[in-house]
Amino acid sequence: MKALVLCGGTGTRLRPITHTMAKQLVPIANKPVLFYGLEAIKEAGIDDVGIVVGETRKEIMEAVGDGSRWGLKVTYIHQEEPLGLAHAVLVSEDYLQDESFVMYLGDNLIKDGIKSLVDEFKKNKPNSEILLARVSDPRLFGVAQLENGRVVRLVEKPKEPPSDLALVGVYMFDCNVLKAVKAIKPSWRGELEITDAIQWLIDNGYKVDPHIIEGWWKDTGRLEDMLEANRIMLETIETSLKGRIDEKSKVLGKVVIEDGAEILDSTIRGPAIIGERTRVVNSFVGPFTSIYFDVEILNSEIEHSIVLERSVIKDIPGRIEDSLIGQNVVVERSHEKPAVYRFMLGDNSRVGIL
Ligand code: G1P
Repeated sequence: MKALVLCGGTGTRLRPITHTMAKQLVPIANKPVLFYGLEAIKEAGIDDVGIVVGETRKEIMEAVGDGSRWGLKVTYIHQEEPLGLAHAVLVSEDYLQDESFVMYLGDNLIKDGIKSLVDEFKKNKPNSEILLARVSDPRLFGVAQLENGRVVRLVEKPKEPPSDLALVGVYMFDCNVLKAVKAIKPSWRGELEITDAIQWLIDNGYKVDPHIIEGWWKDTGRLEDMLEANRIMLETIETSLKGRIDEKSKVLGKVVIEDGAEILDSTIRGPAIIGERTRVVNSFVGPFTSIYFDVEILNSEIEHSIVLERSVIKDIPGRIEDSLIGQNVVVERSHEKPAVYRFMLGDNSRVGIL
């Protein structure tokens, strides 16, 4: 059994963050989303992993390397253009050969991992098994219709969903899926859809089993989902205080302070995580906040947010909330005259001011 992890895609829904980084590498509780997926694959007993990469391949390869950190053997597969999930399978034919595999979308986060799915697939040996979860707005996903416990129809982003069962970004296949991805045509959005490939399997008499999960999952493609995933992951952390906390500071609830971090004259109210060498001075870091490494939070308050590496937040009079702040960003109160707002914002940035 192999795993195929998809890390192409341009991450349009997370711009401007994804102008400069792969969406699969945005950290959730200070760990790139993709790493949770790789851990889940390893935990399911799979060591041989193909990672499909596109325009962000350099960063992904730098972050993951040869996979030995997780005990995995990683092969990189280049997808020239993001032409769809089924296209990613097509370009992986040489890697996959005739083996069964789990396909895992690199920006998906599944609380309970994938071991039960992989075990069930090995036991029942259908041609495909799809992971499904009940969602409140199925129009945003691929949606499955079941009859007598079998999958009979799949529709990609339907205007009128046939059920509330969304396709989670994890799929099991045997080698027959290669016939399917060669037979289908691009959809209205110009992509070879994996949803259509699975429908082709159903229409041609292959067995497609559903596997409904009860635990939460997140496709972290949007800001709101990122913040929610961060919140859920932070709830599972255990307190670990490695950095320096001065006697004027208070650390409450579940908090991780990583190596070399400094907390001076500040309050950290967990669940929260403060990354390596980050400095928090005369500030408040509230619940559900992940601050990555080499960040400075000075005379400011922040909660329910994610701050990426090397950013500075300084002298902000109001509390920052519900925010995703990118790498090397400076957010500071200006003391220059005239007293005006001064911005330098990347394309597709979003700013909310009081
Ligand atoms: C893709 C699939 C969709 C699935 C979703 C899960 O959508 O096409 O069927 O429900 O992943 O994350 P995309 O993220 O490409 O819009």
